Amino acid sequence: MGEMISSIAHQWRQPLNLLSLKKDLLILSYENDELDESLLLEYNKSVDDTIRYMSKTIDDFRNFFKPSKQKELFDVVQSIYDVVNMIQSQLNQQAIKLTIHHESQTIEFLGYPNEFKQVIINLIKNAQDAINAQKLKGVIDIYLTENEECVTIEVQDNAGGVPDTIRSKIFEPYFTTKFQKQGTGLGLYMSKSIIERNMNGRLSVENRNNGALFTILLQKNRQGLMGEG
Ligand SMILES: Nc1ncnc2c1ncn2[C@@H]1O[C@H](COP(=O)(O)OP(=O)(O)O)[C@@H](O)[C@H]1O
Ligand SMILES: [Mg+2]
Repeated sequence: MGEMISSIAHQWRQPLNLLSLKKDLLILSYENDELDESLLLEYNKSVDDTIRYMSKTIDDFRNFFKPSKQKELFDVVQSIYDVVNMIQSQLNQQAIKLTIHHESQTIEFLGYPNEFKQVIINLIKNAQDAINAQKLKGVIDIYLTENEECVTIEVQDNAGGVPDTIRSKIFEPYFTTKFQKQGTGLGLYMSKSIIERNMNGRLSVENRNNGALFTILLQKNRQGLMGEG
C-alpha cells in the first residue's frame, strides 16, 4: 500500500504542476484580454488530457498491485519490462541506468505474476535506495536466463553490497537499516516468502562486482507436478 501510494504520488507530481501552470496561464490570458473561444477550448482539452492521465495512473497501479488468485502462465521477460517501464521516470530522475539482459524474447513460467512483479519492484527499490545513499552513478543490471530446470533472475547493483554483519538478517521481518520513515523492513521478508513459499523458488543474496547481487531461482520441473500430488 505504501509503495503504491508513493508511486502514484510520484507519477502525479508533474501533471499537478502542469494543471497549476495552466490555471495561472488561463487567468493571465483573461486579464490580458486574449481569452477567446479557441484558446479556451485549447486549455480545456489540455486539462482534460492531464486529468485522464492522472486517472489512468490510478487504474494502472490498482491492476498492478491486485493479488493474483491462482497460478497462471506468464512471461517473466515481459513482467520485468512492465515493472521497469512503470518506474522508468523515477530511474531517469535519479540518473540510474537500468539494463535488462536476456537472450530469449520470452520466458514462460507458471506462477503468480503480480506477486512476482512486486518482488522485482522491491529489489529494484532497494538497489535505488542503496545507490542514493552512496550518492554515486547508479547502475542496475537485470539478467534473465533459463535452462531446462529453472529460470534465473539476477538483480545486480553497484552500491557496495550488503555488509557482512547484516547479511543474515536482511530477510527477517522489520529488519531495516533505513530511517524509520524510509524503510519498513518488510520488502525482502515479503519477497522471500512470495518466491519460496508461493512459487517454490529461492531468493538469495551475495556481494559481487562492488554491489549486491540478488538471485531468484524458479524451479520449472516442479510446476508440472503440482496438482498431480
Ligand atoms: N541492494 C542492496 N544493497 C545494500 N543493502 C541492501 C540492499 N537491499 C537490501 N539491503 C539491506 O537490507 C535491508 C532490508 O531490506 P528490506 O527488507 O527491503 O527493507 P527496507 O528496504 O524497508 O529497509 C535494508 O534496510 C538494507 O540494509
Ligand atoms: Mg526495501
